[in-house]
Amino acid sequence: MNRDELVGTARAAAKNSYSPYSNFRVGAVVVGENGEVFTGANVENAAYPSSNCGEATAINTAVAAGVRKLDTLAVACIDASDVEGAYPCGRCRQIMSEFGIEKIIVAGGEGSEIREHTLDDLLPHRFTI
Ligand code: THU
Repeated sequence: MNRDELVGTARAAAKNSYSPYSNFRVGAVVVGENGEVFTGANVENAAYPSSNCGEATAINTAVAAGVRKLDTLAVACIDASDVEGAYPCGRCRQIMSEFGIEKIIVAGGEGSEIREHTLDDLLPHRFTI
């Protein structure tokens, strides 16, 4: 999938977001080292800290399917006012690190700017064991 296809897939995944508390729909897609594709959306909970981010949902779905090395993640926050409001949270950046994601594509809703980063850009000096 090229960059635009990945963003389109992430935007489509955001439509399945369960976000009645924030009304902020986030979708994500991850691509495994052999081209496998998994999607996710944010899933909120009345006990707010029990919520899951869209990126974490996509990554955990891939890992639960047996994939251990991921290459690329695209995230789309379709309710963000612009791309600047669509960046992954720190916890999701750390989860990306665990499974080797190197390229991160960030987008807002339809027509927004699309940006591409490395994980080193977004999480320098990251913690690993
Ligand atoms: N959210 C994500 O899905 N990914 C992020 O990287 C940041 C925040 C979700 C969590 C919550 O459901 C909503 O956005 C508002 O914080």
